[in-house]
Amino acid sequence: MQVTAFDASEVGLAKAKALAALKGVSVDYWLAAIEDWEWSPDRFDVVVAIFIQFAAPDLRRRIFDGMKRTVKPGGSILMQGYRPEQLAFGTGGPREPDQLYTRALLETAFADFEIIRLVEHDSALQEGPGRRHLGAY
Ligand SMILES: C[S@@+](CC[C@H](N)C(=O)[O-])C[C@H]1O[C@@H](n2cnc3c(N)ncnc32)[C@H](O)[C@@H]1O
Repeated sequence: MQVTAFDASEVGLAKAKALAALKGVSVDYWLAAIEDWEWSPDRFDVVVAIFIQFAAPDLRRRIFDGMKRTVKPGGSILMQGYRPEQLAFGTGGPREPDQLYTRALLETAFADFEIIRLVEHDSALQEGPGRRHLGAY
């Protein structure tokens, strides 16, 4: 795959570049705030958004609109995020309930798309040394 990725953090970008080098893959990385990202129409086969729940509802709406605009017809959007049940686990993620995802929120937001798989699960996530925790996804 040819991959384009961005993050607003120089530290995050450096970590991602180091991981890509370790895996022997190349990624077109950009230092960018999502608020400024240009969601060019029909540009990507797949759009991936993993744990972007820093976005409050207004920004989230703009992001979801942008993701839908930039994915090509017939392409896919993949997302991972926390459910409100995560607040009880207290193992990461935003503390603001309206930034968490519910089935209803996603079904409404992507009502104009075919939802192929929407799964709610509690799982232990291994995110590296010392970072294994139970979460509500
Ligand atoms: C919870 S981390 C997830 C990182 C990565 N996707 C992962 O799953 O490991 C959220 C990321 O969003 C980035 N971020 C926060 N606000 C942002 C913004 N306004 N624009 C772009 N990136 C942002 C942070 O720098 C951080 O790397």
